Amino acid sequence: MKKKIAFFDTKPYDKLWFDKFNENYEITYFENKLNKNTAKLASGFDGVCAFVNDEIGKETIDVLYEEGIKVIAMRSAGYNNVDVKAAYGKIHIVRVPEYSPYAVAEHAMALLLTLNRKIHKAYIRTRDFNFSLSGLMGIDLHDKTIGVIGTGKIGMTFIDICKGFKMNVIAYDPYPRQNTDINYVTLEELFKTSDIISLHCPLTEETKHIINKDSLALMKDGVFIINTSRGALVDSDALLNALNNGKVRGAGLDVYEEESEFFFEDLSGTNIKDDILSLLVSRPNVIITSHQAFFTEEALNAIAKVTLNNLDDFYADKFLSNEICYRCEKVKDKQKCLRERNSRCF
Ligand code: NAI
Repeated sequence: MKKKIAFFDTKPYDKLWFDKFNENYEITYFENKLNKNTAKLASGFDGVCAFVNDEIGKETIDVLYEEGIKVIAMRSAGYNNVDVKAAYGKIHIVRVPEYSPYAVAEHAMALLLTLNRKIHKAYIRTRDFNFSLSGLMGIDLHDKTIGVIGTGKIGMTFIDICKGFKMNVIAYDPYPRQNTDINYVTLEELFKTSDIISLHCPLTEETKHIINKDSLALMKDGVFIINTSRGALVDSDALLNALNNGKVRGAGLDVYEEESEFFFEDLSGTNIKDDILSLLVSRPNVIITSHQAFFTEEALNAIAKVTLNNLDDFYADKFLSNEICYRCEKVKDKQKCLRERNSRCF
């Protein structure tokens, strides 16, 4: 009999890609986000598949566990919305660590190029036969210093793109890559010397609000901020102030601190009860996209294949190469994790 998997927070494109590759599972696509109240929907299922804005805290985990769920397959790379400590010993968490770093890195560059050359404004103007150039001036990216925070798969891909533009790349990562020509600097130096800052680190206790009032104060006047990682890396209130006083020349945001209430939904015609989001959206030098950086054909293809493969490995009692737990996610605890010894995390 086919295992039954409850997919949460699904959209038509999820069904399209998963149905294309699924052979082994009976999938039910719920539109609801997974949280402590909706977790009961997983009753009678064998596994759960979730996404970036599902709330998989301790209470959700407990309900799922009571319902007999032994695996949550995240169809995402990030898993900051999962309480991995609460899940440990109860529910295995698997994810898609890499599906297309190009998708996200290219989107980060698209945000920067659009903001800098004001393509979004030019597009609206010329549709109205307004061919004036007033207010559309940008800067050359060539020779500008770009500070990349996080040099993982996406950060490195973004660096390659920036090098193609002959930009001067500097980077910060607490776990710098060995044997590369990357110019690693301290976070403070990066803040002080970058013309553009792009975030490519995960959301953790250390990185929450890494862009805040104090770090913004260190930055050059007229800095561009690009965030395609996670919304809570940026203190949105502080960013708004910095946009108001001209410290920040433009912000390209694919993610937003409080996005879970809004992103991925068509809310046109409704009253948005988030003043900061409304103010950010209304600024001409802010571009917000709705967590779409991952959204390419290649990425969705890979997400579906890897997620289904993760489930296959789980039900075949195999080693889970894409499992994550609170031990293996932290470098200092890595050695304690059984996964280091080619076993499941617990
Ligand atoms: P990765 O795990 O390959 O790289 C993350 C890098 O951040 C690592 O080199 C790590 O050492 C570094 N890092 C850890 N703590 C740090 C800190 N305190 N300061 C600076 N760097 C730190 O992850 P990958 O695949 O490059 O993804 C990066 C992030 O992009 C994900 O965590 C996720 O939040 C976001 N993402 C966003 C998507 C979107 O659609 N907008 C899609 C996929 C990922």
